[in-house]
Amino acid sequence: MTDFATTKSMFHLPEGVLYLDGNSLGPLPKSAANHVKDMMQDEWGQMLITGWNKAGWMGMPTGLGDRIGRLIGAEAGSVVVGDTLSIKVYQAVASALELNPTRRVVLSDNGNFPSDLYMADGLLRSLGPDYELRVVDPQDVAAHVTEEVAVLMLTEVDYRSGRMHDMRALTEQAHAKGVVTVWDLAHSAGAIPVDLSGCNADFAVGCTYKYLNGGPGAPAFIYVAPRLSDRVRPALSGWLGHEAPFAFDLDYRPGTGIERMRVGTPPVIQMAALSAAMDIWDMADMTDVRAKSIELTELFIARVEATCPGLTLASPRNAALRGSQVSFHFDEGYAAMQALIARGVIGDFRAPDIMRFGFTPLYVDEGDVEQAAEILADIITNKLWDKPEYKIRQRVT
Ligand SMILES: Cc1ncc(COP(=O)(O)O)c(C=O)c1O
Repeated sequence: MTDFATTKSMFHLPEGVLYLDGNSLGPLPKSAANHVKDMMQDEWGQMLITGWNKAGWMGMPTGLGDRIGRLIGAEAGSVVVGDTLSIKVYQAVASALELNPTRRVVLSDNGNFPSDLYMADGLLRSLGPDYELRVVDPQDVAAHVTEEVAVLMLTEVDYRSGRMHDMRALTEQAHAKGVVTVWDLAHSAGAIPVDLSGCNADFAVGCTYKYLNGGPGAPAFIYVAPRLSDRVRPALSGWLGHEAPFAFDLDYRPGTGIERMRVGTPPVIQMAALSAAMDIWDMADMTDVRAKSIELTELFIARVEATCPGLTLASPRNAALRGSQVSFHFDEGYAAMQALIARGVIGDFRAPDIMRFGFTPLYVDEGDVEQAAEILADIITNKLWDKPEYKIRQRVT
């Protein structure tokens, strides 16, 4: 059983703050600052360039990949860390398209995160006018998986509502039509149990700064099914994905397996912070995390619906169809979220009217949820959001 009291004690949570935004940026693991300091002083400081070998910096992208892989049902050696998620989306879609060279359509939905759609659009424009990004409503995806489609690119958990796609069913359906799948796990990894191997997924990508708590700007990860990884062309063919980077050959030969999805120099300092976060994740079981997450989200929904008139649930009511976040529509959602943040309850706002709350059992418990719901009820019933300073839009919402 995961000991959530212990995991909670391992995070730095500022006094007076109830943090319900770990679905956007996870909090600081207490050990991360020292871990990064030690890396900088003892490794970078003392070892200088020899740290790449002596401190094992070069092996960190796959070492961390395997630790993340355990949380998402990936086979050992099938996940590598690096770059940003947008870049990994591009890389995965480009590689997936090449596996289906006679088809020209990438299918996605309008619940996808815009950056995924932008990256796919940019890629398809470079490939030429025959290529098409087809974007449908989330509930219509299944009906559009046809033999015309090369790649199905979906984010499993909707970033606004928390609605989940059925990865297993859609992947099976895609394969039956010869479609290659790319799953974005930004709101899944560390939020819900994922079974990439069991679902027979082809490609998956995700980030490490949300539920995985790797810190702002922490690198992304990419998964390629072992049955494909020695076949795919990496598309972003950087030197560290080369079979022999230090041979400095002028021709590109992809490395073995998932190594070929590496691009350039890995962000070692940021990976040191991520490694501290993964020390906590190593103590957690995703089945326990999911059970606790459902308890927390059910509790929050029940409290808010009983005490906050005007807020309507924007997330699926059925917990089995919902990720680890809960969203409510509220006309004055932006101002209400600012008022909440001023009272120490941190969630976030997604246009046009969504108040979004993340539930992260590693450091959020029932007491936190009850207190947060009470403060929200006070703000809503007493209209405490109705102040000019809460209506000024900031750059990051
Ligand atoms: C589902 C999804 N895809 C892609 C991105 C973009 O990630 P990045 O900014 O790391 O490129 C995000 C960011 O929040 C996201 O939630």
